[in-house]
Amino acid sequence: MPQPSEDPASLPPQEAPPPIELPLPPPGTMGPPTEYVRLRRECPVARLRDEAAPSWFVTRYDDVRAVIGDARLTRPSVDGWSFRPEQERPDGPELITMMEMEGPRHTALRRALSEAFNARSVRRRRPRIRRSAERLLDAFADGDRPGDLIAGYTEPFPLLVVCESVGIPYEDREYYLPLADAALGALLTVEEARRVTPLLRDYVRSLIARKRRLPAADILSDLVRRCDRGELDEESVLSFGLSMLVAGYRTTTMFLSDAIVALLTEPGRYARLRDDRSLLPGAVEEFLRYVPVMNGVVVLQATEDIELGGQMIRAGDAVLPALASANRDETVFDAPEQLDLCRRPNPHIVFGRGAHNCIGAHLARAELTVGLEALLDRFPHLRLAEGHSPTWDDDSPAKSPLTLPVCW
Ligand code: HEM
Repeated sequence: MPQPSEDPASLPPQEAPPPIELPLPPPGTMGPPTEYVRLRRECPVARLRDEAAPSWFVTRYDDVRAVIGDARLTRPSVDGWSFRPEQERPDGPELITMMEMEGPRHTALRRALSEAFNARSVRRRRPRIRRSAERLLDAFADGDRPGDLIAGYTEPFPLLVVCESVGIPYEDREYYLPLADAALGALLTVEEARRVTPLLRDYVRSLIARKRRLPAADILSDLVRRCDRGELDEESVLSFGLSMLVAGYRTTTMFLSDAIVALLTEPGRYARLRDDRSLLPGAVEEFLRYVPVMNGVVVLQATEDIELGGQMIRAGDAVLPALASANRDETVFDAPEQLDLCRRPNPHIVFGRGAHNCIGAHLARAELTVGLEALLDRFPHLRLAEGHSPTWDDDSPAKSPLTLPVCW
């Protein structure tokens, strides 16, 4: 745990290192940003340039692990860190998901959800998850060659799984997906996130009303029942629905897509996993460590002065733990830049830790395992399509291919 200084005012003055730009992965690759190696070595807690509030980018494993589990750092709403105090803020409700909730309401919601997301419940859901994967892969096999595996498989699959589990209508996706993507892009376009928030809230409210009228065997119906029994307030149920729309599938899509790129770009790797399925559980953990999606996408805010890595982080400052950098820390992992399907131990921290750790970790693991297994079974000779490269969104710190043309 980072320790607060006894008396911040009495600390010796630190020479402030020069501020840095938010590191981005090299164009046309999944990353991670090459800058991470230098930052971990020379400037593990770096001040970011040009942010509204002073913001710190944290790259070492021990520091990332400490701040992400430290109750003195909360998850601010977009407004909490995007505006200087003197700036006028837009009207309308803020996007409050589970991440921005704190205290007893957050604890009550986590408790209400613990059974639905635990390992046993996810294991029970696995045959259904497998059927969803197979349905999509069958349709993909009937399509043109080369086919785009992102549009045909890695995008719809995690969405389908979360829709079925939570009780969000998959058929409404053309309405809510653009809104959820705009909300997710809040790091880049705060105004856009603000514009879509009331629309997302209205959509989830209408779902809650529907579950109240016609309850089903899904997680949202269960929460609505608990709400009607007085165990939760309606705003908490709303925050859960919003969390599922913004955090429930996109990350898994990115991890699955990047994992498949990593399997197909190294000769023999796909065949190795296809021929030895006992490697699969360890391989999934290694993909979770190696795939560098979590590049400064978690934003924390200090509620008091905290000393970290020789820097004094003041109350109100933002802290961005780079989980993707922590998972490549050479003091923790041997040959961290190598994808080692047999790596053991593998103490990656891709799901965070503490009160806000990922509630969907078991589900995400099941989706990656079943998603890869079904792909290896259905397309034993899958390969990148010759003359058609994957395309990438090079403006985003969290990267996965936009298109992935494959043959089989
Ligand atoms: C590979 C896939 C995934 C990764 C790497 C991932 C990672 C994370 C991380 C690092 C956090 C903690 C953020 C923080 O400390 O503020 C988090 C929180 C969360 N994740 Fe995931 N996640 C994944 C998939 C999922 C899935 C499939 C779901 C649900 C269907 C989900 C739902 C959530 C929710 C609701 C939270 C907020 C929990 C809270 O604040 O109490 N995630 N995730």
